[in-house]
Amino acid sequence: MCGIFAVIEDKQNQAAQTVLAGLKKLEYRGYDSWGIAIKPMGGSTIQVDKHVGKIGIATTSLPDGSVAIGHTRWATHGGVTDTNAHPHLDCKKQIAVIHNGIVENYHELKIELIKKGHSFISETDTEVIAHLVEEKRKTMDLEEAVFSTFRELVGSNAIVVLDYQTGSVIACRNGSPLVVGFSPKETFLASDTTAFLNKTNSVYYLNDNEAVVVSKNERRIFDLIKQSYISFKKQTVDWTLEDTEKGGFPHFLLKEIMEEKKTIPQAFDSNKKTVEHVIKKMVSGYTPLLLGCGSAYYCALAAHYYFAQLGIDSKVVGGYEYLPFEKSISNKSIVFAISQSGETADTLIPAKEAKKRGAIVVAIVNSRGSSLERLADVTLPVGAGPEISVVSTKAFTAQLATLYAVANQYYERKPHTGLIRSSTQLKSKLKHWLNASLMSTVLNIAKRLLSEEHAYVIGKYNNYPAALEFALKLKETSYMHAEAFAAGELKHGVITLIQKGTPCFIMTDSGPSYGEICSSASQMKARGGYIIGVGPTRSPLFDEWIQTPDVDPRYSIFLNVIVGQLLGYYLGVGRGADPDKPRNLAKSVTVK
Ligand code: AGP
Ligand code: GLU
Repeated sequence: MCGIFAVIEDKQNQAAQTVLAGLKKLEYRGYDSWGIAIKPMGGSTIQVDKHVGKIGIATTSLPDGSVAIGHTRWATHGGVTDTNAHPHLDCKKQIAVIHNGIVENYHELKIELIKKGHSFISETDTEVIAHLVEEKRKTMDLEEAVFSTFRELVGSNAIVVLDYQTGSVIACRNGSPLVVGFSPKETFLASDTTAFLNKTNSVYYLNDNEAVVVSKNERRIFDLIKQSYISFKKQTVDWTLEDTEKGGFPHFLLKEIMEEKKTIPQAFDSNKKTVEHVIKKMVSGYTPLLLGCGSAYYCALAAHYYFAQLGIDSKVVGGYEYLPFEKSISNKSIVFAISQSGETADTLIPAKEAKKRGAIVVAIVNSRGSSLERLADVTLPVGAGPEISVVSTKAFTAQLATLYAVANQYYERKPHTGLIRSSTQLKSKLKHWLNASLMSTVLNIAKRLLSEEHAYVIGKYNNYPAALEFALKLKETSYMHAEAFAAGELKHGVITLIQKGTPCFIMTDSGPSYGEICSSASQMKARGGYIIGVGPTRSPLFDEWIQTPDVDPRYSIFLNVIVGQLLGYYLGVGRGADPDKPRNLAKSVTVK
């Protein structure tokens, strides 16, 4: 995934500076390199400034001008070099292109264009777009040249083209997100609204196979299938500017962890009416299938456990592992597609396939206006607000709370008050627990583990998915090799890994599994493991203990995962990583 940002008719004539500021808000989407192209006030060609590395506190000395486009790259084709950074130009520097996605047929296109005399300077797939528009401009007007070029691209792409002659910007999307922001005079294009929320909250989310044509006097939406301009309805984004700022926290990751005090309760209490509609389908015989990738998959697995505990049969699959299970999807399936961004290719592909098979698709999403929301039959927005850190924290717990709420509402059809009490108990205890003293307990343990290269995390029942997510947080934020196991797995092989001093995290709760999980802990301790217990009760086996409030054992996952998020944060900062933008990661993987 990458970050795309463009401004047309910048009112201060400082388009390059405006784009630079917008890109800085999108850096979490990809940060191998960045670049800006501008139609300068003077001169006769487009000017470009591009660099390897994070945009961070970079500046640009591009000249004044009112139209510019910019990009933060997450490389797929071509190394991370200045030359391969976007924007890419045509031979005469009259066309600049930025791109999100993969042009799967770029090699064939490139060979044809070279035969026609075009010279390439980069190794990327993207550069073919600039030269293809240049070639088509010889016989077409700008709009048709761009539309015709886009139609030739195979794969899931979003492109933005700046034309020097007209000062127009044309963008097309099919599969990768693009949103248009409207100010009275200025127009913005971005991968997501956080880039221009400080300028406007009036937006239009481009649909697949739509294009937007923006110039001095027009902003029109073109349907690439119908091949005609269409009327469109703007939306107002309900996120605020401060949602996209750090609010005094050193990193977005810490801010977003602390926000879970409010985002988890809110998610439990949202969407009640829409959930009623979902439950009616489940009651009428639709079988749930839970789908997601990465943290969203662990969320799906955790929901699978909870559904089962409430007597709701379900299937669960990682989006990237969908194919062998496709036959278990039918027109009596209800697919809960879980995705913070709603743009993850590995989740969108099975969701689209499920639709084709007649399944009902329910989008459990955080970002709004996404491809997944648009293809779903029903959307349950988890309402956690913008999650800027690449590491998923509040979105994970809000997604899980939303699925727990579906299961509870299904189960509560017949009067059982137990579950409502459990979620109420979690909400109130969470508020008093997620505080400075927890942070300092976790920070002290992180300090002792800074030089460790391996850590193991075990959990049982609902805390097995908790252990998976806990371990992922340590991996993502601190690059420590952390591995999660179901506690029962230990004696079946993995216990060989435990040596003297190996940090072993034990996910516990106050349920019937406590004895068993402590017995697993004692097996690790007997081999020299350094035992760090996480849960409401301290066992004499624990060398360290991170206390969590005593809640319904099935709800302990929310608390144990937050400990992992905080630990990952402090380990990451302590080990010199950037917890908001871990190496090699992007916020949403919009390519397969
Ligand atoms: C979460 O910390 C990871 N960055 C990653 O596993 C993420 O959850 C996954 O890529 C799915 O993203 P999505 O929720 O936007 O679909
Ligand atoms: N495939 C293009 C490249 O490698 C775009 C990658 C992206 O979406 O950032 O440059």
